[in-house]
Amino acid sequence: MSTLTVSRTPALRGRISVPGDKSISHRALILGMLAAGENRVRGWLPAGDTLATLGAVRALGIDVLRENETSLRFQGGGLREPAAPLDCVNAGTCMRLLAGALVGQTFPSVLDGSPQLRRRPMARITGPLRAMGASISDTDGRAPLHIEPAPLHGHEHTLSVASAQVKSAILLAGLHAEGATVVHEPGPSRNHTEVMLQAIGADLKVDKHTVHLAAAQPRLEPLELDVPGDISSAAFVLVAAACLPGSDVVIEHVGLNPTRTGILEVLARMGSDVASTEREESGGEPLGTLRIRGGDLRGVSLGGDLIVRAIDELPVIAVAAAQAAGETRITVAAELRVKEVDRIAVVAQELRKLGVQVSEQPDGMVVEGGHPLKGTAVDSHGDHRIGMMLAVAGLFAEGETHIQNAGCIADSFPGFAATLAALGAEVRTA
Ligand code: S3P
Repeated sequence: MSTLTVSRTPALRGRISVPGDKSISHRALILGMLAAGENRVRGWLPAGDTLATLGAVRALGIDVLRENETSLRFQGGGLREPAAPLDCVNAGTCMRLLAGALVGQTFPSVLDGSPQLRRRPMARITGPLRAMGASISDTDGRAPLHIEPAPLHGHEHTLSVASAQVKSAILLAGLHAEGATVVHEPGPSRNHTEVMLQAIGADLKVDKHTVHLAAAQPRLEPLELDVPGDISSAAFVLVAAACLPGSDVVIEHVGLNPTRTGILEVLARMGSDVASTEREESGGEPLGTLRIRGGDLRGVSLGGDLIVRAIDELPVIAVAAAQAAGETRITVAAELRVKEVDRIAVVAQELRKLGVQVSEQPDGMVVEGGHPLKGTAVDSHGDHRIGMMLAVAGLFAEGETHIQNAGCIADSFPGFAATLAALGAEVRTA
């Protein structure tokens, strides 16, 4: 596994774009395989997690043509029984959304993944899917998941956590259910599945935090999709630039779906000079350009809906907090404990090695900012977002920061180190 070394950098400057949105790239394959006709997807993310979904969709008999790294063309429909368990590797989205898509098929399947993915909770999807009549079993609440064909019926679900993966698994199952499927969520989780389903002709309506999907959808149109850049990848560059006075960075063609833009609100509340210009829409997804300039930051208290809209950005927000004057409190974020790793424990453990004053709370953390950091050896724990947030911290730590097990960064952001280097950072991989 590679080590990424980052040196203290005075400022970042330049104009970049980031790879395609991971959530939308997974969905493009999974919804496209259910559609009738030829799908065309451009700007697709070629990263570890989405390549796992590509492998699984191919194993289900879909002949996906990669015209180049980021352009896909494939015919939907005609799924067939896979010859072996489908390997979702590290990708929770792949496993949970495929489970929803497969419970209504006429053949059995098994979903499995890496030891990391096997540790993550799956009862949150198997329970609701069983309530729709699905025959799906988990292994002590975790993967592997075993699916047998069964007739599905509609159901009204009330979720206890705002989770796009759970909501999406239910909606994908609902496509094959007799009777309507309704999902009530406690907060605004990302809505890419709903946006995409509406774009391909599903009878789906959204009313605040409730989604209604009509009974069995007869035919879905194929996708014609341009995937925007991933705001969750852009977030690492945004925080890095925000923390380094003198920085001036423009990020083009970034997805600006309001269920994903919590990071922009957090940075603005911390006093950062961040601006977004919405330029266009692709397949119902807004996108545009971001510009950020470095400067002084102040601590903030974060909770409520903002947490859901910035859930994947909270690790790197902890880094911004370390550079801000005063205290930052992150609350109602217990979901962080069931991501690729326990992101509350691991963020606290690794940032402390660099000198950050951070205390772990059951549902979040408190960071006392403004203390100088000192580079040392730190570890990603195999989690791409932990690897990248440590690299961002390394940009303002004294000396060199060595991020061990950095290969996992390519699970979501291939070219991360090259992107930082293009903006003037001193980074090297060994
Ligand atoms: C995702 C939903 C979120 C997010 C994950 C991707 C998705 O997870 O953390 O990185 O693509 O639907 P939850 O739905 O579990 O909150």
